[in-house]
Amino acid sequence: MVNQTDNIILIGPMGSGKTSTGRILAKEMGFDFIDTDDAIVESTGVSIAYIFDVEGESGFRQREHKTLMKFLGNDKMVIATGGGIITHDKSRAILQDHKRVVYLRTSIEKQIERATISDKRPLLINTDPASKLQELMLTREPLYEEISDIKIDSNEGTPIEIAHEIINRLR
Ligand code: S3P
Repeated sequence: MVNQTDNIILIGPMGSGKTSTGRILAKEMGFDFIDTDDAIVESTGVSIAYIFDVEGESGFRQREHKTLMKFLGNDKMVIATGGGIITHDKSRAILQDHKRVVYLRTSIEKQIERATISDKRPLLINTDPASKLQELMLTREPLYEEISDIKIDSNEGTPIEIAHEIINRLR
């Protein structure tokens, strides 16, 4: 059974600050913090790029879904998700039902500034990151907008300021 009471889920594209903001938000609220990407890397012992190579993006999305479900079973969690979680039907349905989903709205320019290319972000390897981020935003933005309960502009402000804004908006 998914806990609807306390857990806060952060969604948004790569480089929207979900991890840095989420970590501070959790600390300020006395919640535990988890990043689904980090949890997957820790439990499998391999990189996200490796999972994409071996199992394809769909394999990764299934792992992401299981990880989301696992942590939603706990209480008082801030969960930072990967930018593509909303493309998976089952994950999207769970997020749609959840009452504390926060979308960190971010411009492509800011994403490029923040989203370092690494084996955590295989979708940005061997391609022009700006066009790829633009392409992803076109299909994903309506989904982020639709399923989120709170929308926050994360272009301006430090992660601390954004975390405080989330706390105010949750009240
Ligand atoms: C992805 C975003 C990444 C990571 C994976 C796929 C995406 O997470 O889950 O590389 O599809 O947008 P961040 O949003 O934390 O960078």
